[in-house]
Amino acid sequence: MNVKNALTIAVAGAGGREHAIIKKLLQCKRAGAIYALPGNAGIERDVPCITIKPVHIAEFTRWCVSHSVDYVVVTPDDPLALGLVDALAAENIPAFGPTQAAAKIESSKAYAKELMRQNNIPTASYQVFTDSARAIEYAKTAAYPLVVKADGLALGKGVSTCGTFEKAQMAICAALEEECFGKSGKTLVIEEFLAGPEVSVLSFCDGRTLVPMVSSMDHKRALDGNRGENTGGMGAIAPNPFYTPEIAALCMERIYMPTVSMLEAAGTPFKGCLYFGLMLTADGPKVIEYNCRFGDPETQAVLPLLESDLLEIMLACTEGRLTQDMVRFSGKAAACVVLASGGYPQNYQTGCPIDGDSEAEKALAAAGGAAYYAGVEQNGGLGKLRTAGGRVLGVGACADTLREALSACYHAAGKIHWQNMHYRRDIGLSAME
Ligand code: AMP
Ligand code: GLY
Repeated sequence: MNVKNALTIAVAGAGGREHAIIKKLLQCKRAGAIYALPGNAGIERDVPCITIKPVHIAEFTRWCVSHSVDYVVVTPDDPLALGLVDALAAENIPAFGPTQAAAKIESSKAYAKELMRQNNIPTASYQVFTDSARAIEYAKTAAYPLVVKADGLALGKGVSTCGTFEKAQMAICAALEEECFGKSGKTLVIEEFLAGPEVSVLSFCDGRTLVPMVSSMDHKRALDGNRGENTGGMGAIAPNPFYTPEIAALCMERIYMPTVSMLEAAGTPFKGCLYFGLMLTADGPKVIEYNCRFGDPETQAVLPLLESDLLEIMLACTEGRLTQDMVRFSGKAAACVVLASGGYPQNYQTGCPIDGDSEAEKALAAAGGAAYYAGVEQNGGLGKLRTAGGRVLGVGACADTLREALSACYHAAGKIHWQNMHYRRDIGLSAME
């Protein structure tokens, strides 16, 4: 490490995604001290954690000023939507991540859909509603299945795929009348159901130049065979075999570049990680959603394959000087399996002591992988952990083939135990068939 040039870095967030980013930043040439705010007891095995939440914008910013932080990486959706990057900029602290105005591409689905419509970017046809009677009237004559989405951020739980009118009516009433998503669900996007393989494409963006990362596949449903409820994500693999070079070229021309231009033209150039959730339909690739940040758990499969220096790429995004040749990925395959609390995403127990995590970490490290901690906290001293959330940790590995990477993940998962631990046994299966 060149100490003279070393940058003091703060990473905002507390999930597996942030842990994967930190592990990569630790390998970067110009990385000096790295802090996680707030991080968690598993991340603390790698870097110091400071108990400040990034949604507390003023407190977070004050800490960065008083600790002479040179660069901040902001990846959770809430602080981006609340303007953390803008607040840091006002204190002359550069950050990786979009401004509040650019983050609206994720924080309002109705806004994102309207921009896509104006710019002919392929996406599901849709209508926006704030009145339940009107929404129900529309649902009566719509084609099924029908997709009902809360406009705002809803922890990945704001989307209902409805097979029948009765189910759509329930989803509409829950959001617009019972306000089950609070303010986020006071506006609804009701859209056409799209069928096909789903692909996540994360990209680096400096406002004008966009460089896609290796493609990936999330597994959103809680149970094997894509049954159960939508979750934040139960596992990921990269690359996604459905995403061929031909499809990638088509997406670049019809989706990625038009999106970058559209955001620039809207006066909100996008700097940071722009995430495209795509459905490869019979009519070509269509946008399911934009996220204004790295995906979780996709990041835990994508970043381990990055061969170039993550910090240099992030700085280039912030400073508007990104080039294609800065971003290089290995040709290997990666996987991450999320270990969750039984019952997630609904009710689940926390406070369960975790066994075998250190052993699993050793096995993963030998296979070029790692454990990425999310919902964990200290369990007494001695570095022991207990569960503190729904998604507890991810086990990730890279290998020459997806099969080998998955086998290393499941081998490590088998070493970890807590009461009612749950994980999917079929991560990556559809990609291997
Ligand atoms: P979103 O939060 O918009 O990404 O939606 C969460 C998940 O719901 C997506 O990853 C898809 O699996 C599913 N989904 C969302 N919109 C649609 C759609 N129009 N057709 C089919 N599935 C969808
Ligand atoms: N894994 C999907 C997301 O981060 O929104």
